[in-house]
Amino acid sequence: MKSECDEKKYITEHEFDEHIAIVKDWTDTFIHDTGDAPTYYIRTFGCQQNDRDSELAAGILEEMGFRPGASPEASDVVLFNTCSVRANADNRFYGHLGSLKPIRKGGRPLIGVFGCMMEQDIHVNAVKRTFNYVDFILGAGTARVLPYALSQTLLSDRTKRNTIDLTDWRGLGDDTSLPVWRADPHRALVTIMTGCNNFCSYCIVPHTRGREQSRSYEMIVEESRRAVACGAKDIMLLGQNVNSYGNDLRRRGEVDAPTFATLLREISHIEGLWVVRYMTSHPKDLSDELIEVIRREPRIESHIHLPLQSGSDRVLRRMNRRYDSAHYLNLVRKLRSARDGITITTDLIVGFPGETEEDFEATLRVMEEAQFDAAFTFLYSPRVGTPAADWYEESHEEIVRKRFQRLVEYQNECSLASNKKLEGQVVEVLVDGFSRRDETILSGRTHDDRLVNFSGLLTSSFTCQECSPNEVVVPHEVNRGDVVQVLIESAGIYSLDGKLIQDN
Ligand code: SAH
Ligand code: SF4
Ligand code: F3S
Repeated sequence: MKSECDEKKYITEHEFDEHIAIVKDWTDTFIHDTGDAPTYYIRTFGCQQNDRDSELAAGILEEMGFRPGASPEASDVVLFNTCSVRANADNRFYGHLGSLKPIRKGGRPLIGVFGCMMEQDIHVNAVKRTFNYVDFILGAGTARVLPYALSQTLLSDRTKRNTIDLTDWRGLGDDTSLPVWRADPHRALVTIMTGCNNFCSYCIVPHTRGREQSRSYEMIVEESRRAVACGAKDIMLLGQNVNSYGNDLRRRGEVDAPTFATLLREISHIEGLWVVRYMTSHPKDLSDELIEVIRREPRIESHIHLPLQSGSDRVLRRMNRRYDSAHYLNLVRKLRSARDGITITTDLIVGFPGETEEDFEATLRVMEEAQFDAAFTFLYSPRVGTPAADWYEESHEEIVRKRFQRLVEYQNECSLASNKKLEGQVVEVLVDGFSRRDETILSGRTHDDRLVNFSGLLTSSFTCQECSPNEVVVPHEVNRGDVVQVLIESAGIYSLDGKLIQDN
């Protein structure tokens, strides 16, 4: 684990531009010699915070002359953006990294690793020792260091097999000015704050992402406006605990720094936006002011993700969550009366060290009362450096698996019942594109964040009139980014099926 006091080195905005220019020279020569642009492939693990960092990395690579590659094998640069939140995220990364060994020939593709795992010495050392064909490693949230890493790598002799370690480097400047490459231009991820101050006893995030840092209100609003001008209909405001937005600014003397509720209301007023989403809300910080804004502003999503983690007050105390089940259920009641039909989703951890049958039953009771519309359920995973990891006993694994199964079965019943309520109704859906499983079916999300698959025709791809005003838009039935009306015909646990009844 790297300590907060580890000395950091900083790249100024001017140096960032210089590094971009160096790599651009290299890509120009590449294009001149081969006739093609060099390609990149980014594999992203973990949360939306990482998705956002990968969008920035892709934007910077595009700016330097790279283009997306179809696969790691077919690309000149391969990047891994890692997550450390549970053991299976670590393991999947190592599996993917290992599978690159046979395809790496003559120093190609270049391989870079960044993200949360690279904020922990144990993983940095493992990569350097076992996977010495990795060219460079960076920390988390360090898109501004990427051009430096590439310039160093491209200018050095890559047959020497040493990994360039830039995990102590950070970039200066706000992200608003960075280029960004969005796979779905109608959806924009906007980071409002980084880091976390909560230190839940099971969680690695505060150790990998550092303390809470709110971005400036003006920058967030400007970035959101720009995204909407470029076609974004759905904005997702990101932070590990969005409800504490601005606390650090206020502590530093900006006494009038706006609250999250104010920020959310402002973003919801941007003309052209269909929905503003936000995650994650910590139950201890969900204010009445925010609930009031949710009540009044129709463009704020009819959904909230509110992680419960456990329904046992004893376990919640040991998790250092700083609320109890009564407080949580009170929030559920307030939210349901503030917004008719709001969906409430949650995260639950099963098998937290010391969890008894009684604790587990308490979680089921809270689930019965809350009637979650969906839940992400996790088996507790010990994370080195967190207090709970020292309390972990492997011997309970079998019992914990049985509890997990019971919990998932109960949640599936609740999710299905929630989705069934929509059968026969017409709902608005923001079109994302083809369904992942079937290329003849379209898919999208409702305002309350349900996944809908429906029949229809996708006839032209997304074009932004702002960015490419001369582009001819062919008359179409449905475009990515359209909001359409869908009749729901049948409901499943994870999604709804329906048919398009009207093109907007
Ligand atoms: N900041 C967010 C999300 C953090 S990580 C929040 O506070 O809700 C996403 C989820 O991963 C958490 O809500 C938690 O349910 C789960 N999680 C985190 N650490 C875990 C661990 N060590 N074992 C199992 N699940 C974990
Ligand atoms: Fe982890 Fe808790 Fe922070 Fe969420 S609030 S990131 S679970 S420490
Ligand atoms: Fe994972 Fe880091 Fe996000 S540990 S969940 S990628 S903040």
